[in-house]
Amino acid sequence: MSNSGQIVAGLLAPHPPHLVYGESPPQNEPKAECGWENLRWGYERMRADIEALDYDVIVILSPHWQTYIGTHLLGVPQFKSLSVDPIFPDLFRFHYDLSVDTELAQAIHDEGARSGLVMKMMTNPDFRVDYGTIVSCHLTRPQWDRPIVALSSCRANSYYSTEVMQEQAMELGRATRRAIEASGKRAILLASNSLSHRHFTSSSDIPEDMSQEHVTNHNQYLWDMEMIRKMKAGRTREMIDVMPEFTDHTVSETDAGSFTWMLSALDFPSYPAEVYTYGTVIGTGNAVASWIPSKDMRP
Ligand SMILES: [Fe+2]
Repeated sequence: MSNSGQIVAGLLAPHPPHLVYGESPPQNEPKAECGWENLRWGYERMRADIEALDYDVIVILSPHWQTYIGTHLLGVPQFKSLSVDPIFPDLFRFHYDLSVDTELAQAIHDEGARSGLVMKMMTNPDFRVDYGTIVSCHLTRPQWDRPIVALSSCRANSYYSTEVMQEQAMELGRATRRAIEASGKRAILLASNSLSHRHFTSSSDIPEDMSQEHVTNHNQYLWDMEMIRKMKAGRTREMIDVMPEFTDHTVSETDAGSFTWMLSALDFPSYPAEVYTYGTVIGTGNAVASWIPSKDMRP
């Protein structure tokens, strides 16, 4: 068994479809004039940072692939279809064409199952990949020239509690790390979630009218800043400790487990995250950040 595989970066890579709309790539039918520049330029800085890392595969856990019995993984080598955001069909109608590293997906499946988690390979070739996976992967690697491994969110937060969700997500993170190490591959992990997630309930006539964009309320903002302070200080275990309160108070997408999964897979970094940007999308709080183990210069 090769032991040269490693996680070369963990990214907080939120998925507001507005950011793809603002970029107006050829794959997206609606076109924008501009919009959400601070977040899009933050993603640009993140992309420049990870460009130097040699990586084979992108592994992502998305809050918008929701499975209620266990964690599922994409198990078909190729998917090609149209993804339409159910809430914002006017902003996101994206023609995707992506490949899946089914070998690594199967290895993560097997490691998770060995750890006692309920795991399932998703082998329906007509399955429509969720827009969270597509948006985060596009903003991280618009060239779409790396295969992905996509994991679902098993919604333990809804069935039980944030504490149960975190125990499950941390086990899944450890299983993911073991599978990557044994694979010999170099992987980037994406936690595809916003921070605070209370959002506007109506939209402006011009979606990219930035005079209308702001955080929903000050409480959300204070919580986001507290989490970002912990990221910048390398206090990731404290983030796990406060996750139940944070998730509850800000109705955060951290309820999906993607953030906890990624931090666990990285074995809870104590070095500072690089925080590229923070900004709001329809009032939700979004940070783009990286943890790159090779940048950890501490003795
Ligand atoms: Fe979302």
